[in-house]
Amino acid sequence: MTRGMGTTPPPSVSAATVTGLLSEIAGTGTDALRGGYTRPVYSTAELDLRHWFIEQVTKRGLTVETDRNGAIWAWWDVPGGDRSNSLVTGSHLDSVPGGGAFDGPLGVASALVAVDILKARLATPTRPLAVVVFPEEEGSRFGVACLGSRLMTGAIDPDKARNLRDPDGSTFADVARANGLDPRFIGRDDKLLGQIGAFVELHVEQGRGLIDLNQPIAIASSILGHGRWRLSVQGQGNHAGTTLMADRHDPMVSASRMVVAIRDTARNQAHARATVGRLQPVPGGTNVIASRVDFWLDVRHPDDAVTAAVVESIHAQAQVIAAEEGCRVELREESLSPTVHFDPGLQKELQRALPQAPVLDTGAGHDAGVLAPFVPTAMVFVRNPSGVSHSPEEHVVDDDAETGAETLADALQGLMA
Ligand code: GLV
Ligand code: MN
Ligand code: MN
Repeated sequence: MTRGMGTTPPPSVSAATVTGLLSEIAGTGTDALRGGYTRPVYSTAELDLRHWFIEQVTKRGLTVETDRNGAIWAWWDVPGGDRSNSLVTGSHLDSVPGGGAFDGPLGVASALVAVDILKARLATPTRPLAVVVFPEEEGSRFGVACLGSRLMTGAIDPDKARNLRDPDGSTFADVARANGLDPRFIGRDDKLLGQIGAFVELHVEQGRGLIDLNQPIAIASSILGHGRWRLSVQGQGNHAGTTLMADRHDPMVSASRMVVAIRDTARNQAHARATVGRLQPVPGGTNVIASRVDFWLDVRHPDDAVTAAVVESIHAQAQVIAAEEGCRVELREESLSPTVHFDPGLQKELQRALPQAPVLDTGAGHDAGVLAPFVPTAMVFVRNPSGVSHSPEEHVVDDDAETGAETLADALQGLMA
């Protein structure tokens, strides 16, 4: 594919391709147990990826800054350094446990290649351009997805964020401090928000939309509303051999019945999705009836009122099931993201730059969705031939990855005009 309408890019980055960049990080955070990648925020793997990103943007001559919420910003400034009405692109480098290679890193690597392409075409940008890496997009460590963008936009109370705990019991405040942030100063960043004129996130498609349309690239229209809830089922811990079946108050049995009820509730509601992907018995022994089981519920629907009704129904059914099993259940909301419709003006501008691209919605959450109520935001999806995501099976073919980066560069250049 030809690239470049102007001067040649600097030799250090002239050969960069999305595939080549992703191959540089292919060995980071591999998970021998689960398969794929496990790169929770501020783990060794995610920190290594952050260092890699900083090296990459430094060699491209961008100015690197880490904001007070832990997002990394790499700026290609206009002469004079005014950052108002900036264009921002980027994604995340953290992953779900056992995730794929593309969810997050594809958007970051594509942004780097898009910068190379634009630098080859333009001596200086006509709008400032930043590549951003948001922390804890998946919420895999502290439970709240898109924690970095939520903090920046004020969508989460900083006190709540400071007190979030990871599975080892460490608070976000402690982990943030250990990684160079001052947790007293996390929270809404009006200055940075005010500088963003448009945010465009490129992401691997996480379903089959583009496969079915036989197209490599799509423009996003909307994100399903979604949320996370924690259910704690309290029973009575006891001995697996000496406790008669009739005498048990087994929270694992309650939780299992609840999981089936959750599946059935979502099946009976058009367009609803409900998932239990994480369940934790306490204390967790083969010959021990658990005393408590915590599990996490993810519910999504295009209509936020329906999401609320689905969760209310699940809660009511869980209470009945718990009572029948001699247990108690508590349900607590951990995060909620309303349905997002991306900025129609920006979507039209992208459609002008990318006239072939179909427009698709998505059921997956993104930092772009958190930013959308605050700044004009758009997303570009790249075909995933497996149609599978949050799994090692997630995939992007090399040609589509390079087309994605060129598309992103075209879209950004279109927005500079
Ligand atoms: C993130 O990818 C989510 O949709 O949960
Ligand atoms: Mn994801
Ligand atoms: Mn993602």
